[in-house]
Amino acid sequence: MPWLNLSKPTKMIKKILKRLRVHRLLPHQLRQKLALITNYWYDFKVYLKSSSMMDESGREQQSSQLIMRYHAIEKGLSVPSPRKNFGQDKVIQLMDRLDTYRSQFGHDHVVVACLNALSSYLDYSVTGGVCESVRQYLSTIDAVKSNAVLNIKRVDVIESASINFAAFCRSRHSIRNFTGEAVDNSLIEKAVDIAKKTPSVCNRQTSRVHVLRGDKKKRILDIQLGSRGFSDCIDTVLVMTSDRRAFTGIGERNQCWVDSGMFAMSVIYSLHALGLGSCCLNWSFTSSRDQLAREVFSIDEAEAISMIIAVGHIPEVLNVASSPRFPTFDILTIHD
Ligand SMILES: Cc1cc2nc3c(=O)[nH]c(=O)nc-3n(C[C@H](O)[C@H](O)[C@H](O)COP(=O)(O)O)c2cc1C
Repeated sequence: MPWLNLSKPTKMIKKILKRLRVHRLLPHQLRQKLALITNYWYDFKVYLKSSSMMDESGREQQSSQLIMRYHAIEKGLSVPSPRKNFGQDKVIQLMDRLDTYRSQFGHDHVVVACLNALSSYLDYSVTGGVCESVRQYLSTIDAVKSNAVLNIKRVDVIESASINFAAFCRSRHSIRNFTGEAVDNSLIEKAVDIAKKTPSVCNRQTSRVHVLRGDKKKRILDIQLGSRGFSDCIDTVLVMTSDRRAFTGIGERNQCWVDSGMFAMSVIYSLHALGLGSCCLNWSFTSSRDQLAREVFSIDEAEAISMIIAVGHIPEVLNVASSPRFPTFDILTIHD
């Protein structure tokens, strides 16, 4: 997209203006507005470049297109009375795209999920519509068999969910005092593994986690600044991101923040369940600071950083901020 390659002239103009200190001559509000536009411009460029909006050829872009289609099938099969032969266009698109994907990237877990969805579709619809094409398609591939729909019982859901969730949530606090003891990778792996159950848009699972320790951890904390006073006792920093390559269309431009934010909360609760302490650290950065922080460790530009999380072991006794909450009816409106 040559018309978009404005980074060189933009950088040059910025440099000249900076030297001339022209911005100092502008009224504060106008300066703020210009800075906001510059930051939106950065978000715009990264989204246009990374997402599937303009180019669907990469592995992540293609796999998310597959996931969206197989998910439409599994969703369709899980409603109270699915229509026989529903979503035929999605089924055909899925088979077409699946061929392209398999020839380029082989037989991975996304392919397996697609084949399972097609097989379940066939089991349910049996005849008519695109069934014959699906049957033929599946007969050429040695794969399948797990169902795209799970049959579950209310009693089991209630039994498994019968933990004291209120007590669990209320016993979590942002921890700003750690023992300094090393956090084993197996605990981080466990927390991320549990957090994988977090809902994500069309199950596209765009959340990623980067673990930083040692010098990289120190450098990122020095840039972030929100852990002043306790950064020295933080053992591990998790950088929470969302891969924009899985998103498509203008409507999804902010989806990365939702997906990664939800995933982060699950990681925080998982760490809490594993007896570790954590503290969210904001990534409320301008584009230039975001870029600066990205120099600390290897991360693709497509990954949007939503926040970082300080992790460590909790001392026997410690103080936490009480952080009182608003009254419930200040935040809850019931529209009868
Ligand atoms: C996105 C986000 C960013 C945060 N950034 C910081 C931070 O930079 N430094 C810090 O000490 N706490 C930070 N916090 C923690 C909040 O201050 C804390 O969650 C809030 O006061 C509620 O307290 P609690 O977590 O103990 O319930 C952040 C929390 C969130 C969700």
